[in-house]
Amino acid sequence: MIRTKHRLIQISRLVRVALLATVSLSAGSLLAAESSINIDTDINTQAMHLGVASCANSVCHGRAAPVERGNIMQNEYRTWAKYDHHSRAYSILKNSDSKRIADNMGIADASKEPACLACHADTTPAKLQGEKFQISDGIGCEVCHGGAENWIDSHYGANTSADSDAAARHQINLKNGLAPTEDPAFTAKLCQSCHLGNTNQLADHEMMAAGHPRLRFELDTWLNLMPPHHRDDADYQQRGKSIPALDRWLAGRMQAAQDSLALLEKHSMPQGLFPELAVFDCHSCHRPMDTHVQRSLDDKKLLPAGSIRINDNALRTLATVVAVREKSLGKDLSTAIRQLNQSTVISNKELQASSRQLMSLLKRAEQTMAQSPLSKSEQQAITTALLKQGASGDVRDYADAEQLFLGLQVLAANQNDSSNTAQYYDAIFTVLNDEKSYNPNRFKAAAQKTLKAAMEK
Ligand code: HEC
Ligand code: HEC
Ligand code: HEC
Ligand code: HEC
Repeated sequence: MIRTKHRLIQISRLVRVALLATVSLSAGSLLAAESSINIDTDINTQAMHLGVASCANSVCHGRAAPVERGNIMQNEYRTWAKYDHHSRAYSILKNSDSKRIADNMGIADASKEPACLACHADTTPAKLQGEKFQISDGIGCEVCHGGAENWIDSHYGANTSADSDAAARHQINLKNGLAPTEDPAFTAKLCQSCHLGNTNQLADHEMMAAGHPRLRFELDTWLNLMPPHHRDDADYQQRGKSIPALDRWLAGRMQAAQDSLALLEKHSMPQGLFPELAVFDCHSCHRPMDTHVQRSLDDKKLLPAGSIRINDNALRTLATVVAVREKSLGKDLSTAIRQLNQSTVISNKELQASSRQLMSLLKRAEQTMAQSPLSKSEQQAITTALLKQGASGDVRDYADAEQLFLGLQVLAANQNDSSNTAQYYDAIFTVLNDEKSYNPNRFKAAAQKTLKAAMEK
């Protein structure tokens, strides 16, 4: 696969830098929690996309350096063009990796292939493309912020830190179709439409086997990696836009659980003998053979050895989180997740029924979690539960282990755990260095060590 070897290291380093910044921010942002409930808000697909060049003017978003004071930084275009991989998402469809993927799939030109463009460009139809629209801009401003046709005028305004109308103006812009990118539920859905796939677009197993990198995503970490082109400062908080990292993690996992169930429902019918393999856990088929395997108690109860597992890691994290707040609901979730996995050896009808039942439990979980932010003691309990999950030997897949680690990091930063948060999880992190040589027994040992240290603190 492409360039995956040192990815996690790179991600983690960057996140560790970002974590320190997050800690000091999370305090004043509780009021924002309410806005995260609005999960069904969607981007207005009828508005004209004016094109990145419409935003890049030097008095708007195209400054070379950020302004010192003001509501926004005004160098967003430069950050995007220079550091954000989204600006090159289209152009990489012409590089040698894409040529090889296309060649393996029998596609003539990846940069003209709708199945690739769906996630690598702005696919607004021709009649809604403004004069400055260019497909070569890749994933431009309006893919995330919404077509600017109806909000471009209302969104100009004083950019000074003394601007007391900014919050009211933001509400007007939202009414005019600016996407609510500060809402973590909305943003999770937006990012995951490409970073996980949705019912319209999927990086399927054919693409993976042709050489496409495995998709992986965690909202808070990936927002930090993008990198952000906004400042989470006093005026940002005043506009009600600042969201604690922990809320982003939770919203991201909640949305991933729902999106992955929807994908499973759509793609579980066999085409020939087999269903679409990309909705299953990659590592249930792809890993070295291990004759010294010792299955955990939970694993033994789940399915016979050697079964193919559903990609359920977002669901399982949620069950752990929800159990801390409402034990019985957490238990119901765990049972339903087990049934979903077991339905794969019964029938497709059974799978669809389990999936629907799980979806309704998720809606309840969403309400339960939206009632109030996670308290300090709940956060502590979740950390311990996640570590216990790792220490039990139940995390046999790299992708599960990776999500567990990312969650622990977000939690640690939010709890202001210690100044050396980074070192604290080194044992776990070291095991995740290299996806190819991932060893579940080493992960288990590392989690046990970390759990012990956490208990002693
Ligand atoms: C469901 C959305 C989706 C589809 C469909 C998709 N991609 Fe991607 N692609 C992504 C995402 C997201 C990444 C970034 C992965 C990461 O780094 O985590 C990516 C990464 C890549 C990369 C590696 C980029 C780099 O910087 O090294 C290549 C090459 C690529 N895609 C080519 C293709 C081609 C060719 C197709 C069509 C056959 C395609 N993609 C279809 C979402 C998609
Ligand atoms: C991949 C998605 C994505 C793309 C592409 C993107 N943005 Fe953003 N943008 C975000 C997110 C997420 C935030 C942070 C949440 C928020 O403040 O709304 C943000 C924040 C901002 C803000 C700060 C808003 C505030 O209230 O402080 C501005 C200004 C902005 N973006 C402009 C741009 C411009 C200009 C471009 C194109 C050059 C662009 N964005 C491209 C996702 C994106
Ligand atoms: C329209 C599809 C799409 C949307 C929406 C989208 N992304 Fe991406 N993202 C991609 C593709 C494709 C790439 C790979 C680009 C490349 O490497 O050339 C990518 C790359 C990235 C990378 C770099 C990954 C790496 O391994 O280097 C980060 C970080 C990222 N996206 C975060 C986000 C976040 C956060 C959001 C939501 C605010 C988001 N993306 C929304 C398609 C998308
Ligand atoms: C049900 C089992 C199964 C699952 C689940 C599965 N794969 Fe595969 N994969 C296969 C088989 C079988 C092949 C074909 C191997 C061959 O051609 O030798 C393959 C081929 C591949 C290849 C090409 C390797 C090669 O040597 O040709 C890659 C890369 C790949 N898969 C990635 C993935 C990713 C990423 C996922 C998860 C999104 C995934 N697979 C899920 C069974 C699976």
